[in-house]
Amino acid sequence: MAVSERDQARLKAAQLAAEIRRHDGLYYQRDRPEISDAEYDALMRELRALEGRFPEIVHPDSPSQRVAGVPATGFATAPHRSPMLSLDNAMDESELRAFDERIRRMLGGRAATLDFVCEPKLDGSGVELIYRAGRLLRGLTRGDGHTGEDVTHNLREVPSIPALLAPEGAPIPESASVRGEVVLPLAAFASLNARREAREEEPFANPRNAAAGSLRQIHDIDFDRLHSLEFRAYALAEGAPEGTTRQWEILERLRAWGFVVSPESRACHGIDEAVAFHAALLEKRAELPVEIDGSVIKVAELELQRELGALSRSPRWAIAYKFPPEQATTRLEGIEAQVGRTGALTPVAKLRPIRVGGVTVSNTSLHNQDEIDRKDARVGDTVVIQRAGDVIPQLVRVDLDARAKAVSEGATLECYRLPAKCPVCGAGSVRLLGEAVTRCPNLDCPAQLKNNLRHLAGRGALDVDGLGEKIIDQLVEGGLVAKLSDLFTLTQDELEGLERMGEKSAANLVASLERAKQTRLPRFLIALGIRHVGETLAEILSAHFGDLDPLMDAKIEHIEAIEGVGPTIAESVVRFFGDRANRAEVKRLRELGIGWPAELPAELPAGGAAASMAEGKVEGKLAGKSFVLTGTLSAPRSEFKQRIQAAGGKVVGSVSKKTSYVVAGESAGESAGSKLKKAEELGVQVLDEAGLEKLL
Ligand code: IVH
Repeated sequence: MAVSERDQARLKAAQLAAEIRRHDGLYYQRDRPEISDAEYDALMRELRALEGRFPEIVHPDSPSQRVAGVPATGFATAPHRSPMLSLDNAMDESELRAFDERIRRMLGGRAATLDFVCEPKLDGSGVELIYRAGRLLRGLTRGDGHTGEDVTHNLREVPSIPALLAPEGAPIPESASVRGEVVLPLAAFASLNARREAREEEPFANPRNAAAGSLRQIHDIDFDRLHSLEFRAYALAEGAPEGTTRQWEILERLRAWGFVVSPESRACHGIDEAVAFHAALLEKRAELPVEIDGSVIKVAELELQRELGALSRSPRWAIAYKFPPEQATTRLEGIEAQVGRTGALTPVAKLRPIRVGGVTVSNTSLHNQDEIDRKDARVGDTVVIQRAGDVIPQLVRVDLDARAKAVSEGATLECYRLPAKCPVCGAGSVRLLGEAVTRCPNLDCPAQLKNNLRHLAGRGALDVDGLGEKIIDQLVEGGLVAKLSDLFTLTQDELEGLERMGEKSAANLVASLERAKQTRLPRFLIALGIRHVGETLAEILSAHFGDLDPLMDAKIEHIEAIEGVGPTIAESVVRFFGDRANRAEVKRLRELGIGWPAELPAELPAGGAAASMAEGKVEGKLAGKSFVLTGTLSAPRSEFKQRIQAAGGKVVGSVSKKTSYVVAGESAGESAGSKLKKAEELGVQVLDEAGLEKLL
């Protein structure tokens, strides 16, 4: 019998996938790549091209889907050489002095005056660069501090990241881990945003987001953006030559290898000098080419750093001394009510654009009617805006002197009230007794539907590629989609009829909708947009109930009894599934092919319908057992996972007291090492692959 073209493609894709996995192993577990990045890319491109032609052959475990890595972003992940910690904050001078006193006390009064290295706190994106024999091998984002995303390709384009460490500068270690911050200088940030606005694209909120966004480009990489980034090095987690005793020497070593080290950095003797450094830096802030949000004060001597050690999140030997939030005044030009996913009417202040804390602010949320009343903000007022660090800009207060002056000049400033009718569908808005939020009660309100569709297409939910805001607007306004499930009935022809939608993008969207149908229960729950059910809760509920039906029929008390679930959430879930229209919608979504594998319940509920339905699912010799897989096994982890699940067991990501077994593969890399250590600490049984085979 002739082999069909599709079967040939399937075979070829499987071969490519195996090859890519082998190179992943060489690169991530063994640090011994056999091919160049470009050759690796070529393999991946070939696989993607095949899958693009035959979407039906895409296997969920294909490296193109990155199920084992970080699927949400499309980047592979890798463990850091050692955790990338965060910093504790001091918000004012007294907190900084308390830090100094605390550590001197811990050192037992040995140091009456400590030496510090003071550096600017760069407001960018932390990265780790790993060099092997002086050659850049890999670059990772900070990620969760333990595991980062592999953005090596993009980092190689950053001009201040040396591909080779300068050998004349200082001896080159076999392995080095250089830490620092990727920043986007302010001038480059301004021109990047100008270009984006010219293309009618959303400008970046601040240079930090722009830098992080540039590093995480996947498709159609904009090289200009990467070329305008700057890397500033501040730490060497591995590779400092023997005999290095001080942080200052590390900075010098980094400079000698060819890195940019913040030129503002200083060695300071005693906390008074650190305070003076901070004040001088704040003075200079506006003239600096990059955005900073404070200073970092580090104990200079490495031996003392080691002695002081770290807490789980941050070292004891360093602190970030933050600048006070920047404020600016501008005019409140209007207040607009916007309708959110849950129908909430949010008043948004429209401001005369103003630069504050490095960004231009033209809108800011006023949250709700009470907040407006409390601040007594009126259209036409002069208002004080503040932006501190990560915090979104806030309207702090009204300048009452300015108002008095305006009034004396004849202006009338009226109090604002949220509209009595939804600005999108015209339904009467309601505010329930005891609630701060005013809502549009119309579940079919196009604003809610659009927001719900955006939510459903989001990365944490069904992750539908190509379903952008403009398309959603057209689908809703054109009447093609009146409820979520309508999405999955869309045809290529219907989509081609939309503006800016060619044959190819229509086909791609149909394919991604088709792909999105195979999901996981937690993602489906998120997609439904149940209030209060985000990622964590969706996981908890799925793990508890195993499948949707027992959850849909669960009583409030069953849900409330689950650890980590409060009464508000329980009520929200029960109310959602108690609604006839919602149940019909769920039914239709399933009829249209949306499905998921059963999640194995973590523990059985105490009783009721949920319990009996869930109980039926746990069978097999590994029922109730949970496994953590680590290190390199002889086959992809997904394969072992499937076999464990088939035997009734469960595979989880991290080791806890509840873990039954840790299965350790061959090379104990960083993450394997730490998982093994954890297993030992908690007394969890460790198996090798043969041991697992025996159990299976
Ligand atoms: S030292 C263990 N030095 O701030 C020490 N970090 O809020 C941690 N940062 O994750 C890093 N400028 O991304 C250090 N001069 C500097 C820094 C700096 C910016 C970032 C870094 C860190 C975050 C903590």
